[in-house]
Amino acid sequence: DIETIHTVAELRARVRIWRAAGQRVALVPTMGALHAGHVALMQAAHQHAERIVVSIFVNPTQFAPTEDLARYPRTLDADREKAGLAGVDVAFAPDVAEMYPQGFATTVSLDGPALGLETDFRPTHFAGVATVVAKLFSQVAPDVALFGEKDYQQLAVVTRMARDLDLPVKVIGVPTVREPDGLALSSRNVYLSAEERRIAPVLYRALGVAAQAIRSGAPVAEAVESARDDVRSAGFALDYLDARHAETLAPVAGRGDGPLRLLVAARLGATRLIDNIAVPD
Ligand code: PAJ
Repeated sequence: DIETIHTVAELRARVRIWRAAGQRVALVPTMGALHAGHVALMQAAHQHAERIVVSIFVNPTQFAPTEDLARYPRTLDADREKAGLAGVDVAFAPDVAEMYPQGFATTVSLDGPALGLETDFRPTHFAGVATVVAKLFSQVAPDVALFGEKDYQQLAVVTRMARDLDLPVKVIGVPTVREPDGLALSSRNVYLSAEERRIAPVLYRALGVAAQAIRSGAPVAEAVESARDDVRSAGFALDYLDARHAETLAPVAGRGDGPLRLLVAARLGATRLIDNIAVPD
């Protein structure tokens, strides 16, 4: 069975042994409730390292008081089994006191790709993400770390942080794993009612239509506006749907402003879904 480690000291001791044997180490950070999207990250990790650590930690600092921290699914036994089947060496599952000891007082401060989009609706979210990811990078000291494009702004924030803080880790993005109807896999999909689940794929479909329209020469603002209409008409409450520069996530006026990414967040009942798509050149 897969080894499960709960403390930073034991984790560092295990990684030290691998390092002494000349092995490369990959980290896949997760909050558990593992699904095929997470497994795709583990599979991609094998291309970069001989050893793989999956962290499983529901990070309280990235949840706002109104969000789903208490009811976030916790399924450690099933997670360990899935990670084991994916060839992961160690599940690192610290408790909250191990990650945030008494007196914890340090947070990563973000700008650039963290501005706007998610931050307009979850103002403290990425500070919590970046801080826990910086700690995990320090604890594991991996050669590579894998993140899903599903959380595209998170991937951009972490990439920028690693570069800005000279963290010696290569951040690698992995394409989004989807249901056959296009819905991006998410731990939060279990919250959807049958009716909401039927509506949910509209999100990705609307992005796809807009991306193709922009590629065919439609003005970005028009394509974005009609995608917003599609999402709202389907019954979503829209948080945002925008076109951004694919790397910096800076706002763009048109296609000339560089490679584009369309990003969306919208709510179906109490469930908030996010997705994104590349605009093909
Ligand atoms: P979590 O939501 O568990 O996601 C862990 C990783 O899996 C993230 O990099 C996310 O982008 C990726 N992922 C989720 N669904 C995916 C899908 N359908 N296809 C591909 N990848 C997918 O993201 C977090 O946890 C946390 O913020 C974390 C980075 C662990 C920090 O606490």
